[in-house]
Amino acid sequence: QKDEKKEMAGIHELLSKLYHHLLTKTAHGKQALEYLVKRGFTEDVITRFQIGYAPPAWDTAVSFLQKREQSLLLAEQAGLLAKRQFDGKHFDRFRDRIMFPIHDRNGTVIAFGGRVLGDDEPKYLNSPETKIFQKGKNLYNLHAARPEIRKTQHAVVFEGYVDTIAAYRAGVLNGVATLGTSLTEEQAAVLKRNAQTVTICYDSDRAGVEAAFRASQILEKADCAVKIAQMPDGMDPDDYIQKYGSDKFVTDIIGASMTVMGFKIRYYRRGKNLRDEGERMLYIEEIIKEISALPKAVERDHYLRQIASEFNLSLDALKQQQGQMQRQFK
Ligand code: GTP
Ligand code: MN
Ligand code: MN
Ligand code: MN
Ligand code: MN
Repeated sequence: QKDEKKEMAGIHELLSKLYHHLLTKTAHGKQALEYLVKRGFTEDVITRFQIGYAPPAWDTAVSFLQKREQSLLLAEQAGLLAKRQFDGKHFDRFRDRIMFPIHDRNGTVIAFGGRVLGDDEPKYLNSPETKIFQKGKNLYNLHAARPEIRKTQHAVVFEGYVDTIAAYRAGVLNGVATLGTSLTEEQAAVLKRNAQTVTICYDSDRAGVEAAFRASQILEKADCAVKIAQMPDGMDPDDYIQKYGSDKFVTDIIGASMTVMGFKIRYYRRGKNLRDEGERMLYIEEIIKEISALPKAVERDHYLRQIASEFNLSLDALKQQQGQMQRQFK
C-alpha cells in the first residue's frame, strides 16, 4: 500500500522530468514553448515550476514507462493513463497539453494540471482524485511558497496555476492556488497553520467574486485574518500583471486588498445610484444585514457608525434596525 503510493509518485516524478525535457529541449515542445513565452513565461519560471509539455501522441507516457519497467496499471490508477475499452490497451490521458506538475507539501509530484495551447475545451484537464492526490487537501505551489508564507505570516490564494506563476514573477513569493475547486476547510486549516493572514486574489468575474465570498467565510471559520484583493472588472491576476506590470500589482492590488466587509460594501454599491432614495435604502438594508452577521460587537459598531456618518443617519435608528436583524439571525 505504502510502496504503491511511492511508486505512483515516482511515476509522476519521471513523467514531469520527461515533459519538462520535451518542452525545453526538443522540437516536440517548440510550439508550446512559443506559446508560453508569448504569455510571459521566462526560462527561470519554466524551470522553477517544472513546466512541461505532453505531445499529441497517444503513447508518449506509455512507451516511456514501459521502457523503464514501470507498472502501467499503477500509472492508470494514478490518473496518468486510460484504458481502451475493446482491447484493454493503455493510452496517455494527457495529450497535447502544457503540463503543470502539482506537488505535495514535501515537493513530490503527485498530480498534473494540463492546459490546451489554444481555446479548445476543456481548457484544463486535471488529474483525478487518486490514492496520492486529493484536490481538496492540496494547494498548488504550497511546498515552494511555504517558507515565505511562514516568514511573512501571510499567504495569497489564487484561482489557478497561471496566476500563481505570474504573481511569482511579479515578486509575490507567498502565492498558492486551489485546484479547480472552491476552497475547502482542509485547505483553510493548512493555511491557518502557516499564516495569520490570507489574502484571496481570485478573478474579477462573477464566478470569482462569488467564490471569494465563500472562501472568505471558510477562512474566517478557520480563524484566519482575511483580506480580499480585487482587479478591475473581468481581469484575473495574470491579465492585470501583463497589462499594468508587477509593481502596480503588488502595490495597487495585493497591497490595497480590503477587509471582507470592505469588499462587500463595494460589491453592493456596484451599479447602484446612491443619490436615488430607493436604491440608497436598499443598499443600506443590504449592508445592515451583513453587519448583523458579523460576530464581533466592536466590528458591528464600527460599520454602523461608518454608515451613519456617510448617509447622515441617526446611529440610534441604525442600531435599532440592526438589532432587529440580529435577533432574526439567531
Ligand atoms: P489561463 O486561461 O491559461 O490564463 O488560465 P486561468 O488560470 O485564467 O484559468 P481560469 O480562470 O479559467 O481557471 C482557473 C483554474 O480553474 C485553473 O487553473 C484550473 O485549475 C481550473 N479550471 C479552469 N478551466 C477548467 C476546465 O476546463 N476544467 C477543469 N477541470 N478545471 C478548470
Ligand atoms: Mn519535485
Ligand atoms: Mn476564473
Ligand atoms: Mn483566470
Ligand atoms: Mn488567466
